Amino acid sequence: MKRRTILTSIDVGTTKICTTIAEVNDGGGIRVAGVGVTPSEGLHKGLVVNISDAKESIRESVKKAEQASNYKVESAYVGVTGRHVSSLNNRGVVAITRNDRLVRPDDLRRVLQCAQSVKTPSDRRLLHVIPRGYAVDGQVGVKNPVGMHGFRLDVETHVITAAVTSVQNLVKCIRGTGIDIDGLVLEPLASSEAVLTDDEKQVGVVLADIGGGTTDIAVFKDGSIWHTSILPVAGYQITRDVAIGLGLPFDVAEQMKKRYGSVMPVYESKAETIGTISQDGHGVSYQDLCDIIRARVEEIIRLILLELPRSEYETLVPAGLVLTGGSANLSGIEALGCDITQLSVRVGVPTSVHGITDALRDPAYATSVGLLLWGARHEDTQAWQTRRFGAGLWRLVSRIKNLFR
Ligand SMILES: Nc1ncnc2c1ncn2[C@@H]1O[C@H](COP(=O)(O)OP(=O)(O)OP(=O)(O)O)[C@@H](O)[C@H]1O
Ligand SMILES: [Mg+2]
Repeated sequence: MKRRTILTSIDVGTTKICTTIAEVNDGGGIRVAGVGVTPSEGLHKGLVVNISDAKESIRESVKKAEQASNYKVESAYVGVTGRHVSSLNNRGVVAITRNDRLVRPDDLRRVLQCAQSVKTPSDRRLLHVIPRGYAVDGQVGVKNPVGMHGFRLDVETHVITAAVTSVQNLVKCIRGTGIDIDGLVLEPLASSEAVLTDDEKQVGVVLADIGGGTTDIAVFKDGSIWHTSILPVAGYQITRDVAIGLGLPFDVAEQMKKRYGSVMPVYESKAETIGTISQDGHGVSYQDLCDIIRARVEEIIRLILLELPRSEYETLVPAGLVLTGGSANLSGIEALGCDITQLSVRVGVPTSVHGITDALRDPAYATSVGLLLWGARHEDTQAWQTRRFGAGLWRLVSRIKNLFR
């Protein structure tokens, strides 16, 4: 299949909507041609709660990216998050019955089909079935079994499902702006593409994208995805704690958090109070601000750790914890992470794209950049997932509607 030259990603976040348009060269290299960022409306904890507001924010963000790049967006890779997402590891097995016992691409399809035949209730949809590794006649650790001989082919998969209605709401917002969906990608998988190295994924690593409404987690081991999870707590809750704790309007609390907030404060070098007055007339203390932020960030990091089996951290994830998402900008978060987890902790910033990248060199854009990288890598295999959500049907309906317009 000939590689398409233009890719678009739309990260529908709780805080901001980011549309990124990029050119992809034959080697898979990505050059960003335009970025459009708008504040989110109509979203809460990663979910659409007001379709018309969300649609308008998306439209605005797409328009900005189109103006910046001079390209027209027709379709895009879109991130999915929210508490409704769940995942499990599953197995599939098929017999190779042909005379030559040669594993062919068709057998891969069959075994994956078998692994995804988990009982999915009618209110849930499969989002991803990711092969983690194959075994041929019991020989494990096979990454690509095509061309090998054997009687039996096993696959281990990571299966991710999502609530039909939540996905439908998101799809409706995107398609309502006239844009088709190339692929729906679980957000922590996208962020991992942007900020994790192959070595980290091989030895074992936890990625946590601490955004505005959700903390998106992905654990990798032996080069494959091992666990994914979405926690409904992130930067919004930190700001709300500051607003309630210090008696400030939400917007002021957000500014204070970003400008002065730290989870490892250095008290000697800062004035005792910062130049803001609370609603009941008191000066806001730097120590109180940092204590409130630290308490919530500590809780989030402990919740991330709870996603791992107890006491196996060093053996499961020797490469440690990689923090990304806008809240990973909090001063001191690496040091606090190390103290709590006793693992190595770093902040992951997307770097593997070219072009207008200055704006994207911030952990808040890990998902946007990751969606582009995911798109460039999975271009050929995504079509079937989109069909699952009825893209073909939708296109037909849109065309008929246009005929009557
Ligand atoms: N310098 C900073 N210090 C502290 N927090 C910050 C800073 N910059 C951004 N944030 C926080 O990051 C959050 C937004 O992050 P991000 O843009 O990754 O979220 P999102 O993708 O819109 O939301 P989500 O992925 O949760 O749906 C906000 O809560 C914001 O307050
Ligand atoms: Mg996000």
